[in-house]
Amino acid sequence: MAPAARAHLLLACLSALATAMVAALSSVAAGGGRMTDQLDILWGPTQLLNDSNGDQTIGLSLDRVMGSGFRSKTSYLFARIDVDIKLVPGNSAGTVTTVYLISEKQWKTHDEIDLEFLGNVTGQPYTLHTNIFANGSGGREVQYRLWFDPTLDFHTYSIVWNSDEILILVDDVAIRRFKNHWDAGVPFPVYQPMRLNGVLWDADDWATQGGRVKTDWSQAPFTAYFRNYRATGCEPSGLAWVCGQDPAAGNWFDGGAVVDGVRQQEQLREAQDRYMIYNYCTDSARFPDGGFPKECGLP
Ligand SMILES: *[C@@H]1O[C@H](CO)[C@@H](O)[C@H](O)[C@H]1NC(C)=O
Ligand SMILES: *[C@@H]1O[C@H](CO)[C@@H](O)[C@H](O)[C@H]1NC(C)=O
Ligand SMILES: *[C@@H]1O[C@H](CO)[C@@H](O)[C@H](O)[C@H]1NC(C)=O
Repeated sequence: MAPAARAHLLLACLSALATAMVAALSSVAAGGGRMTDQLDILWGPTQLLNDSNGDQTIGLSLDRVMGSGFRSKTSYLFARIDVDIKLVPGNSAGTVTTVYLISEKQWKTHDEIDLEFLGNVTGQPYTLHTNIFANGSGGREVQYRLWFDPTLDFHTYSIVWNSDEILILVDDVAIRRFKNHWDAGVPFPVYQPMRLNGVLWDADDWATQGGRVKTDWSQAPFTAYFRNYRATGCEPSGLAWVCGQDPAAGNWFDGGAVVDGVRQQEQLREAQDRYMIYNYCTDSARFPDGGFPKECGLP
């Protein structure tokens, strides 16, 4: 963890002790099974499919009228979230299937971790668009091509968020890491709990081939399926900051333990070499004269 953030957490921890609120800390682990135990289906055309073994699959649809969405019942301050998704098949151009963590509204500046799957015309590849907002500002887009057809079967997409880093994994392969460089003045989400949302929406003004290809509504409704939602994290109540100090949180808490350190480096390098199609940190048209965001020059 960045020293400044660590110092802040320590201060918060001390003040928590002083006010006898250490009991506010709780670590929760929940997984698999009944999606509706952990997720609220919020709006739009949705389906709830029940397996014979009690597992549930949520189908989010998009029709001419509206998209649809769900949200986790719990908000977390640092978490590992895994969910299996099968994306809209066929001509999915214009559709965007999204899972994202977003902070609660009571704070002034918002934090957000986004995975957006941009649909495409039949036979053309999806784009996995990722972005990270911290202290209210985003603009940290990195995009990937997947190495499989994400519409044929379920694949596992994961966000690991701890006080050192944010890690994005696909089928347990690390593809993106965003480190906490708070000490160098780069904002990082460390103060605000976030909730997971899943949404299917229409974004044909920009999503597919830069907005040139529009949604073919004759194919509607479009449906993406979600199952096996698993979340492990700190569920804050009272003083949120003590979450970063939880020694019992398991190995999601230590990003290095998610995947062996050497293996993780290899995975990240391979994702960058083979699957990355856009990185804001190398977009010199967007950041002329070397004016890249600070984190781009940090390890
Ligand atoms: C699945 O189970 C939930 C609650 O357990 C119920 O509300 C829903 O109607 C069921 N869906 C089907 C398709 O049986
Ligand atoms: C966070 O946002 C506030 C308000 O927009 C700004 O004044 C501050 O400089 C930002 N902090 C960092 C580290 O970017
Ligand atoms: C869709 O397919 C085209 C052609 O292969 C590709 O250029 C584009 O990046 C793909 N993805 C999106 C979201 O447009």
